[in-house]
Amino acid sequence: MQIIKTPAELNAVSKKLRSEGKTIGLVPTMGYLHEGHKSLIRKSAEQNDVTIVSVFVNPTQFGPGEDLETYPRDLERDKQAAASAGAEYIFQPEPEDMYPDGYGTFVSVDSDITKILCGKTRPGHFRGVATVVTKLFNISMADRAYFGQKDAQQLAVIMRMVSDLNMNIEIVPCPIVREKDGLAMSSRNTYLSAEERGQALSLSAALKDAEKAVKGGETDLEKIKRNIRARISGSPLADIEYIESCAFPSLEPYGGKLVEKTLIALAVRFGKTRLIDNIIVEPENREVRA
Ligand code: PAJ
Repeated sequence: MQIIKTPAELNAVSKKLRSEGKTIGLVPTMGYLHEGHKSLIRKSAEQNDVTIVSVFVNPTQFGPGEDLETYPRDLERDKQAAASAGAEYIFQPEPEDMYPDGYGTFVSVDSDITKILCGKTRPGHFRGVATVVTKLFNISMADRAYFGQKDAQQLAVIMRMVSDLNMNIEIVPCPIVREKDGLAMSSRNTYLSAEERGQALSLSAALKDAEKAVKGGETDLEKIKRNIRARISGSPLADIEYIESCAFPSLEPYGGKLVEKTLIALAVRFGKTRLIDNIIVEPENREVRA
């Protein structure tokens, strides 16, 4: 496992790899790696000759009062996790390497896709994400990049950006990895107290119930969202920010009757911790036989 610190060094390594005909997979992360990240790294290692994991807590995607300073960091642990999942390189730049004095260029996906869901309460967040991800794509010269469905809106924004800007990279979506008890893995889960963590299980439980209902033939999205809200509201510490449904990956707001691939996404606060989770459902195609 080699740690690369500067964009220039990584660019040199990537140029050499490409001149040798090797394919490069990139897994962008903010570190404090868990099994969710590792599933992306494994997928990349399977599909590419070389895998680069970036570990960078990107300041431009954090708003004022958010957890930029307290975001958990542990490079030693990340090295082991990335190596054990099959990565060859970690790219771990400093903020001043990515945003030197005088930095002034940002990538902004300006369609409605960034104005809903998390975009409503985190203005500027996706601009920061799109900017850093573009930089990482350019520096790494990757053939493929891996993103988790856990951050479904982020995945949709990146897909839109790659399509709109004709970026020469394949985006590979990866399923949500959960703890045994259902909680979606997240570096931010470490902020939760034992009591909050217990109550946070209502998120995945509510989404699982919704999935079951759809499998059972339920197509009323408003009813599905009402039931999710009722279930989560049963946790006294839960402060619901949104429970919404929209088409995926276009993210066009979409309620009423379930007739196409739909993202049901939610954000809920437990104390100072903001958790997100989602499912993607499709109507059951039930064959009716006489
Ligand atoms: P981070 O939260 O570290 O997540 C890095 C990648 O891991 C993202 O693509 C995310 O969707 C995926 N991921 C996180 N938890 C997951 C889980 N439980 N199951 C599957 N995948 C999971 O997302 C970011 O960092 C940043 O915004 C970044 C894209 C790196 C830009 O700074």
